[in-house]
Amino acid sequence: MTSQDVRKQFLDFFASNGHLIVPSAPIVLKDDPTLMFNNSGMAQFKEYFLGNATPKSNRIADTQKCLRVSGKHNDLEDVGFDTYHHTMFEMLGNWSFGDYFKKEAINWAWQLLTEVYKIPKENLYVSVFEGNPDENVPFDQEAWDIWKELIDEDRIILGNKKDNFWEMGDQGPCGPCSEIHVDIRSAEEKALVSGKSLVNNDHPQVVEIWNNVFMEFNRKADGSLEKLPAQHVDTGMGFERLCMALQGKTSNYDTDVFTPLIEKVEQITGLKYTSNEVLNISEEQNKTNIAIRVVVDHVRAVAFAIADGQLPSNTGAGYVIRRILRRAIRYGFTFLNTKEPFINQLVAVLANQMGEFFPEIKSQQQLVTNVIREEEASFLRTLDQGLQLLENVVADTKGATVSGAKAFELYDTFGFPIDLTALILREKGFELDEAGFNAAMQEQKNRSRAASEVSTEDWSVLIPGNVETFVGYDQSESDVKITRIRKVDSKKDGILYQIVLDNTPFYPEGGGQVGDKGTLFSANETIEIIDTKKENNLILHFAKKLPENVNAGFTAKVNQDLRSLSSRNHSATHLMHQALRSILGTHVEQKGSLVNPNYLRFDFSHFAKMTESELQQVEDFVNTRIQEQLPLIERRNIPFAQAVQEGAMALFGEKYGDEVRAIKFGESMELCGGIHVKNTAEIWHFKIVSEGAVAAGIRRIEAITSDAVKAHFASYENTLNEVKTALKNPQDILKAVHSMQEENAKLAKQIEALVKDKVKNLKASLIAEIQEINGIQFLAKQVDLNPEGAKDLAYELGNLGNNLFLVLATADEEKPMLTCYISKELVAEKNLNAGQVVRELGKFIQGGGGGQPFFATAGGKNVAGIQQALEKAIEFVK
Ligand code: ALA
Repeated sequence: MTSQDVRKQFLDFFASNGHLIVPSAPIVLKDDPTLMFNNSGMAQFKEYFLGNATPKSNRIADTQKCLRVSGKHNDLEDVGFDTYHHTMFEMLGNWSFGDYFKKEAINWAWQLLTEVYKIPKENLYVSVFEGNPDENVPFDQEAWDIWKELIDEDRIILGNKKDNFWEMGDQGPCGPCSEIHVDIRSAEEKALVSGKSLVNNDHPQVVEIWNNVFMEFNRKADGSLEKLPAQHVDTGMGFERLCMALQGKTSNYDTDVFTPLIEKVEQITGLKYTSNEVLNISEEQNKTNIAIRVVVDHVRAVAFAIADGQLPSNTGAGYVIRRILRRAIRYGFTFLNTKEPFINQLVAVLANQMGEFFPEIKSQQQLVTNVIREEEASFLRTLDQGLQLLENVVADTKGATVSGAKAFELYDTFGFPIDLTALILREKGFELDEAGFNAAMQEQKNRSRAASEVSTEDWSVLIPGNVETFVGYDQSESDVKITRIRKVDSKKDGILYQIVLDNTPFYPEGGGQVGDKGTLFSANETIEIIDTKKENNLILHFAKKLPENVNAGFTAKVNQDLRSLSSRNHSATHLMHQALRSILGTHVEQKGSLVNPNYLRFDFSHFAKMTESELQQVEDFVNTRIQEQLPLIERRNIPFAQAVQEGAMALFGEKYGDEVRAIKFGESMELCGGIHVKNTAEIWHFKIVSEGAVAAGIRRIEAITSDAVKAHFASYENTLNEVKTALKNPQDILKAVHSMQEENAKLAKQIEALVKDKVKNLKASLIAEIQEINGIQFLAKQVDLNPEGAKDLAYELGNLGNNLFLVLATADEEKPMLTCYISKELVAEKNLNAGQVVRELGKFIQGGGGGQPFFATAGGKNVAGIQQALEKAIEFVK
């Protein structure tokens, strides 16, 4: 059975049992501060369990792209070493939202596994929650009784809180669970050791495949459990493991989910991967296998994350993606001998394999490939530099142990992996001070933890059961009641209160547009709302203090000035998107945007720097649409399919409901939840202020509209006026600047000639001052020259013989500078190095520098140190 069939049969089975089949949510989460990535099938349904939103069906099934690389569920460091953990995996799941419970869930799971997939019953074990008196959760008698009807009692195992009570994170919906484990060992092995004893014991062939969670509780911030309003089912089956069991394999990597990728790696590297069936492999082959598993696993995680809009970067989710990719590059570099980018070539294989079910990977294949290639190239350069730096560290090391702090510096500043450092050091006969490294690492972790510490209290609910409505498209002011309040204390922002209202005109940050600011006022008091954000389905209004009387009636009033500036930038963004697609081509896709009252920023896929003329065309296009005074045509609640069919632009990595909102200005039509102008004329004018690259194949434009454009031109005019005054008000400014430039060039030439003369004179007088020390011609002296002159002088003197050691100091324009020249013969014979000399002596002038072994310079800050530096110079020849 191919993996495609396995997936299809799962979905067909639950469809035939009344489940609505939905697409996977994007792998990268938005609007959920507690999770970076989707780490389980249920993450996108969290709000249904909590009662904050209503599902469109109370039975749903899907296959969800999951990533377990951060937070509570993190498998990253295991991946590659075993045969059944992954960073990205698919989770097949079925859900009941207040509908069926344990009986149906367990029976369907059993029927699917044993009758549809035909897994022999004697290969299966199940587990049931044993209960936890401390938390007042009893033994799951109900699940036990249901299983007893289906399976021998001695195949049912009792599990503790760690194994059989599932929680998504530190807070949120949770409940006891019942797992199904499969034993795929050979008959001989089974005869020797019972499978039951291996369940939950990290045996690679006795593994959990399906988890049925019976959601009944919500874990609160204070750690306590509260009953959910209704009972739900949340299940998750590991797709890759299921394929392993059904394809008669003993490793996920031997299934057709991975073999095409592995074959491609073999083809690129010329190395061979051995399947899990091959026994007694060499140490060398084992390392190759691990590295190949790392690469084929990681490329999936990275490719899908990029396709869902998460580019590798230096912060947050982007940094996690970058680290995963770097781990793969580094395993390739060390164990597969790949010194050139190669992982990007796997994207085509992946697109071919999975593109039918996950179209995002197929349609963005080129972009994903380019981004990965660029990341690979840049990290390989880093590795190269790191290797050189490591050489220096080793050269400076006295004894056999390299300091942990140095290794940490390499790791922290250059991203040079610590295991690679340790490996190279071992090869060179050095040891790494691991304790020192770990201490430095811990210190950094403590620092960043302290900086990002946030404590969130539980909600205090004033009006229960209310589903908040957003009225901000039609009004900027509304009469409201507060429904819940929560206090959040963070190092970054201090104490803030999050306020939820029964209805609100405040737009929560989203679709690139920043959240509204404004006030909440009653007859007696006024509270500033400093920001508005979404958390899943709730709109949170942020305030520094709470009203005295939280039960009063309030008016919520949006700051219209700021909102109006943002809306102009937002509408201009749509017009610019349209302009880019019409001028550059339809390969242009939005890859990120920011819209605030001051400016707009737009990232998009395009493979070359935009020319001046293209930028001008985009500006003209948008300004023409502004002049045409196009009215906003807003359509709410139209079916997604219809909107797309009518030509509305939808974005990858964005989760759309069945009903969407479309924003139209003339020919521009986008799915969008943001706030827009009523007519393009309100934008007044559009001006691009910068264009540049953010990643391979991704460009960024920053632009301004309306008041900011006026300010922009006013500031240009000001500057120009100042220039005019400085030039003594010439008739023609440009002519005046040109003649000044010509004059300057003439003067520069004259100075150069004068310096040459001076060098000649100095040379004659300095020759007499050269001393002979230990057979070396030595001179250290301050001269009144500019740096170029000092260089010329050093070379002139150097040309006189072959054993000169020279240090010249200059203090041109009060900037101290040391220039060291050492005859090449001395460099070779006496092991002298000008770079090292200026680094050492540079300390006296509070500076540093470098260069080549025979010529180097160092600039500094402390003129007073020159004398001391010159006095110390003699020690190098002594
Ligand atoms: N949410 C459950 C899990 O991830 C099914 O195991």
